[in-house]
Amino acid sequence: MNVNKIVTALALLGSLLAAVTPAQANPEQDRQNMIKTFKDKFPDLKTEDYVYGALALNKDALGQYKSIMEFPPYTTELDKAEKLWNTPMKSGKTYADCLPNGGKMIAGNYPQFDNAKGKVVTLEMVVNDCRTANGEEAWKYGDDKTMGLLTAHLRTLSDGMKVNIKVEGEAALKAYEDGKKTWYTRKGQLNFSCANCHVLGAGERVRSEILSPMIGQATHWPVFRGGSNLVTLQTRYKGCHGSVRHVGDEPGSERYNNLEYFHTYISNGLPMQASVFRK
Ligand code: HEC
Repeated sequence: MNVNKIVTALALLGSLLAAVTPAQANPEQDRQNMIKTFKDKFPDLKTEDYVYGALALNKDALGQYKSIMEFPPYTTELDKAEKLWNTPMKSGKTYADCLPNGGKMIAGNYPQFDNAKGKVVTLEMVVNDCRTANGEEAWKYGDDKTMGLLTAHLRTLSDGMKVNIKVEGEAALKAYEDGKKTWYTRKGQLNFSCANCHVLGAGERVRSEILSPMIGQATHWPVFRGGSNLVTLQTRYKGCHGSVRHVGDEPGSERYNNLEYFHTYISNGLPMQASVFRK
């Protein structure tokens, strides 16, 4: 075969492959693959139990968690959160006045891709748009005294809602792919990716902790660790990046927003419950 024929044959093969292989990954396929990975790993775990994270893999700890949740040690914080939620902004309007559906049953729709803005929008960004439109300054995503506290109430208004993230169109898919890349990229001196610990390593013990599976990880934020230490989802991302000695981003960065988009998509269909207890 001469060179020309080989080139033609390769080109033909290339176009055939292009026809059967999608140019980019398919988010729903990713989610199904992840479900299958964990079904093989934890055949006894029921889908709905993934919302408990590592607790689902330890019966005693799950029992303790359930009794703690009957009288959470951070009710004072939740009261403060509700008060903040009800405090009118400079314009006289409240958050309920300016958020979609009065802020109820909406958290499961975020993050979402905003085509007009050309980027991923988190629920925290919607709160900030609401604040700046009503004469207030924007807050930082990771600030536990302001944004974190407000969302500790706001997100409970979506308890029971199923995670419902949509990835539609090229630009949205690109943001999703970017988040996926962050999830699978090894970082820090330990050279670990999120997937190393929360997919391959899920169920393994690291020091005194069991590593939670990826599915369900995005359903219950913020969390209160120990007594009343409020931690937002992206603060947790930064903490996990720190645990492999990688200096993570400030919560609210585009990289973390895209990561949250991908990460939350994988929990689609699971019920949300905000402001839960974690060790
Ligand atoms: C060296 C292992 C390690 C790596 C790498 C790691 N984590 Fe973690 N992560 C942990 C440990 C330990 C915990 C606490 C136990 C648990 O809930 O899994 C945790 C907890 C979490 C939680 C909270 C789960 C819950 O239900 O409270 C989230 C979310 C999370 N990690 C996301 C990430 C993301 C995103 C990355 C990548 C940026 C990442 N982790 C990388 C070890 C790791």
